[in-house]
Amino acid sequence: MRPTVALINLSNLKKNYLNIRMKVGPARIMAVVKADAYGHGAKEIVSAFNSLGNKKPEYYAVSICDEAVELRKRKVKQPILVFEPFEKSEAEEVFRYNLISTVFEEEHLNILLKAKRKFEGKKSSSKKTKIHIKVDTGMNRLGVRYEESFKFVEKLNRNKNFLIDGIYTHFATSDELNKDFADFQLKRFKNLLKDLREKNINYGLAHAANSGAILDMPGSYFDMVRPGMILYGYHPSTETTESFPLYPVMSIISRVASIKEIKPEETVGYGRIFTATQKTKIASVPIGYADGFNRNLSNKAKAIINGKIYNEVGRVSMDRITLDVKHDDVKVGDKVTLIGKDNGREICAWDWCKELNTIPYEITCGISNRVPRIYKNYK
Ligand SMILES: Cc1ncc(COP(=O)(O)O)c(C=O)c1O
Repeated sequence: MRPTVALINLSNLKKNYLNIRMKVGPARIMAVVKADAYGHGAKEIVSAFNSLGNKKPEYYAVSICDEAVELRKRKVKQPILVFEPFEKSEAEEVFRYNLISTVFEEEHLNILLKAKRKFEGKKSSSKKTKIHIKVDTGMNRLGVRYEESFKFVEKLNRNKNFLIDGIYTHFATSDELNKDFADFQLKRFKNLLKDLREKNINYGLAHAANSGAILDMPGSYFDMVRPGMILYGYHPSTETTESFPLYPVMSIISRVASIKEIKPEETVGYGRIFTATQKTKIASVPIGYADGFNRNLSNKAKAIINGKIYNEVGRVSMDRITLDVKHDDVKVGDKVTLIGKDNGREICAWDWCKELNTIPYEITCGISNRVPRIYKNYK
């Protein structure tokens, strides 16, 4: 196996998850495992959650049909919500794999109805198709517009072909310090639910809270919460409160592949963007931008070897980075921690984010398939 791996700490995953459970009290949990569980490996992450007995998530959520089908093939039993509405070409999978589709337009319902007929053929059943309705309370991306949402739910509730299993909205700014807009969205969602209850209209399970809202908006938990990033051990931004501890789940580890001494004035790598000012040793490490080690980390990233921090120097290439290890006793084969802890030192995804102007989501999702994931339970 390659020496470059992503270690996935399942004990930390479970700690984060159980902390969320404690925080949200009686609310159900829909664990968000889209994008291969934010790069951690959805099948293994779901198996770890499902080992938690009666504490396991009540629902799972993914973005696209293929992700849901993969989980069903792995015998995941919980309901699986697909955030994106189904295309015509894939809608039969809803019935083949017992998936729950998001809907917010008449067209989504037509697609599902046609697919059901096609899938069931002559043996057509009167079983209702479960759906979740997405309400756009201000994100202006997906969802039925708030102003039209009452009518949409009311009409759908009368439709004999469908069962409204849930209704949800998504916050644009729950991870920001200023919660004015998130509170505005929350108020709209609450108003809608109140109006529906007053008219005895079933809407199933109401859910809204993503990571930011779970941390900072306890009034948004409703019947179910939808944690994503906090499962994997990172706050969604630097502006949320640390209302419970989180433990990063992914570490990126490699080994020193070669060491060479260079003289003053010599340069390292493509473009010669690093020039030695004195005699020094350069260690090469087999990770590059094809693995998700972003090229903009050139001359900026750090690495830990034997408990000491070293600078990345020279341009990150497709398969390789180079570290200035000075005159230290660093040897070929020594462990290199690029994200993670070693001997009391730590580099976390946020350290990359500061250089790359991004969020941990993009870092963990960006670690490519070429990097094997190694799963470990620690005591
Ligand atoms: C609809 C929906 N709910 C919940 C989440 C989870 O968000 P987070 O990772 O911020 O908890 C996402 C992710 O973007 C989402 O699209």
